[in-house]
Amino acid sequence: MENLDPASGYDLYAPYYKKDHAHLDSFDWTIAGAWWREALAQLEAGVPAENRKGPLIALDAGCGDGRSLVRFEKWLAGHESAALQGFDLSPQMVKLASAKTHSATLGVLDVEDQQAREAWVQQRGRADLLSAFFLLVHIDREEDFFVAMRHLLAPKGILLMNTIPQRKPPVLVAGTKKFTILSHSHRLEAVREAGYDAGFDLVREHPVVEEDELISTVFWWAAPREVQ
Ligand SMILES: C[S@@+](CC[C@H](N)C(=O)[O-])C[C@H]1O[C@@H](n2cnc3c(N)ncnc32)[C@H](O)[C@@H]1O
Repeated sequence: MENLDPASGYDLYAPYYKKDHAHLDSFDWTIAGAWWREALAQLEAGVPAENRKGPLIALDAGCGDGRSLVRFEKWLAGHESAALQGFDLSPQMVKLASAKTHSATLGVLDVEDQQAREAWVQQRGRADLLSAFFLLVHIDREEDFFVAMRHLLAPKGILLMNTIPQRKPPVLVAGTKKFTILSHSHRLEAVREAGYDAGFDLVREHPVVEEDELISTVFWWAAPREVQ
């Protein structure tokens, strides 16, 4: 079976991704959604709007077809001092996310590409609230993931992410084609260690268990106080 790189794999799978939403939601959504709203409220309370230089930025890294962004957009309604952003490696995913969201600034970006991240940060600023769900599974080294997250985050920002104990990538079907997408398994200890090494403080960790089996772990990290 062909094991495609994430850019071509997700471009091919994008039109079919929606049918996985319910399954993906079951991995983490209740806790991830509640934490996201709580994190936003915490950030808003931390610096009153009148003392801020610009809007609070909520960024969804590896946003896919906008599964999470559509909810974030609803929860941001009425928060005029917050801006929503998202990026993904797959142009087709970004196209679908753009069609679903009205206010988000979206773009194509490889989170592992330091220069591209630099340009993103220059143009759009660093995120106060950064989410990255089901993204780490496509990054080979945990260290690279956290360095990228730190780069995208403002000092004292909040990172919400999950990791899944995936041994084998699922077989995906797009029309008549069956394939897998290159993914990597990460030990929980290695994820924690890489987060700490990158200067993050672990605020919360929530295991999602189904039929006695760990299927996802959701993390809330506090970014370092200084820009790195
Ligand atoms: C399993 S999907 C998750 C999408 C979305 N976060 C969600 O929870 O529905 C993984 C997404 O990560 C994106 N991705 C994989 N590698 C990436 C990279 N290096 N930079 C940015 N996005 C990447 C893929 O294109 C895909 O849309």
